[in-house]
Amino acid sequence: MRAKRSSVLARKKGERKVKVIAAGLVVLVMCIFAVSAMAVPPGKTVEFPDGALGKVIFDGKIHADKGLKCNDCHTKIFPMKKGAKLTMADINAGKFCGECHNGTKAFASKDAGNCAKCHKK
Ligand code: HEC
Ligand code: HEC
Ligand code: HEC
Repeated sequence: MRAKRSSVLARKKGERKVKVIAAGLVVLVMCIFAVSAMAVPPGKTVEFPDGALGKVIFDGKIHADKGLKCNDCHTKIFPMKKGAKLTMADINAGKFCGECHNGTKAFASKDAGNCAKCHKK
């Protein structure tokens, strides 16, 4: 009699443990979604507020639609956070955006006809 009751108790305890683990998994999955929602592509943009020629908006969706994956840019070209110091000289020298916008992988940053593709008034 006694033994039976304690085994029922043990089973209840076990069920509670499973529930706690399941709740933990839900939270974990939600965190993963929250992190990927912060990602630049797809559907998010980063603005570089350059004055002279107009601000530059980096659009994650355009780049994702071209088949680029996170690790094409992160972290060998850009850290996974805002605030890289970009200059046109560095870009034209093949750094940052210029790793691709060099006329080979994507339109060249140096061509006068392309300035307005990145710089918007
Ligand atoms: C074509 C290049 C490129 C690709 C591909 C790319 N990113 Fe980025 N990402 C950037 C640039 C540029 C920035 C801004 C860096 C800066 O401002 O210094 C950035 C910024 C970020 C940030 C910081 C955003 C913020 O608001 O602080 C996160 C997070 C991020 N990327 C995640 C991702 C993930 C996840 C993927 C893949 C799904 C991805 N990126 C693909 C170029 C890229
Ligand atoms: C692939 C995108 C891209 C193209 C194409 C491009 N730029 Fe830029 N440019 C940038 C980014 C990004 C910055 C940094 C803006 C910031 O940090 O606020 C920048 C900054 C600048 C600056 C600010 C000062 C400096 O030297 O950093 C000038 C001036 C400039 N670009 C001129 C040009 C001219 C002229 C062209 C065309 C011959 C051009 N850019 C084409 C992305 C581009
Ligand atoms: C890993 C390679 C890669 C990097 C790094 C990269 N791009 Fe691109 N980008 C591309 C490709 C590929 C395309 C589409 C092909 C094309 O338009 O030549 C593209 C397209 C674009 C376009 C669309 C232009 C249009 O009118 O359709 C803009 C704007 C742009 N990139 C800006 C930037 C800026 C700003 C940066 C740096 C912050 C950057 N890209 C970094 C590969 C890259």
